[in-house]
Amino acid sequence: MDTTSTPDAVAQGHAHGSAPTNADTPASLVVVRHPLVQHKLALLRDRRTPTKIFKELVDEIAMLMAYEATADLALAEVSVETPLERTVGHEVSGKKLTLVPILRAGLGMVEGILRLVPAARVGHIGLYRDHDTLEPVDYYFKVPGDAAERDFFVLDPMLATGGSAASAVTSLKRAGATRIKFLCLVAAPVGVRRLAEAHPDVTIYCASLDRELNPQGYILPGLGDAGDRLFGTR
Ligand code: PRP
Ligand code: URA
Repeated sequence: MDTTSTPDAVAQGHAHGSAPTNADTPASLVVVRHPLVQHKLALLRDRRTPTKIFKELVDEIAMLMAYEATADLALAEVSVETPLERTVGHEVSGKKLTLVPILRAGLGMVEGILRLVPAARVGHIGLYRDHDTLEPVDYYFKVPGDAAERDFFVLDPMLATGGSAASAVTSLKRAGATRIKFLCLVAAPVGVRRLAEAHPDVTIYCASLDRELNPQGYILPGLGDAGDRLFGTR
């Protein structure tokens, strides 16, 4: 018998960038099924992948996910003069984008997205999970002062119990933010439900909706401790 586990989202075969059809999964969830994302995610999960490659993969997957998450950015017409004639082009307009990594693993997603949107600002939210209660503990918060005027992408590779993500979004809203998306790489069903129930207005992007949490709060099949694998700590 083949005992290899299959992450739910892959088993369900969702169309690229579409929401899952499972009735239990909230409408605010988007599983990014692009083949490059799935290929890189498999490498990322591999326990043999060394820190340097792990970091590069997080960076690349984050960039590909941001491509999906920025698909609804507003455009305005601009006049452009080509070497031959004047024409109409389009530039991104509207609210200014701010990336907010949740420290520390979220930091690994910043550079890849900045390559796509170099003008984005970067805020930071410091949270860690208490090992016994699995509840988030706040230790840092800094975002641009004009939060109400901005679009926010909250970044964290892992959405496990959902406590950290829900707390980060609550803090951002307290600071005035109203337009928030959450980008992660691997999500657990319980975390998606918790974040969606607390903040139904926040679209959640993930590369995989995995099966479940183990008793220690790690995602299965998951990829292990994202922060430790990114920064080479244990
Ligand atoms: C990890 C991860 C998330 C959180 C997810 O961080 O990067 O922030 O756990 O778990 P949750 O959904 O159950 O809240 P961790 O607390 O290990 O801190 P680190 O990034 O500093 O390693
Ligand atoms: N945080 C991680 O880094 N990995 C998990 O599987 C769960 C929380």
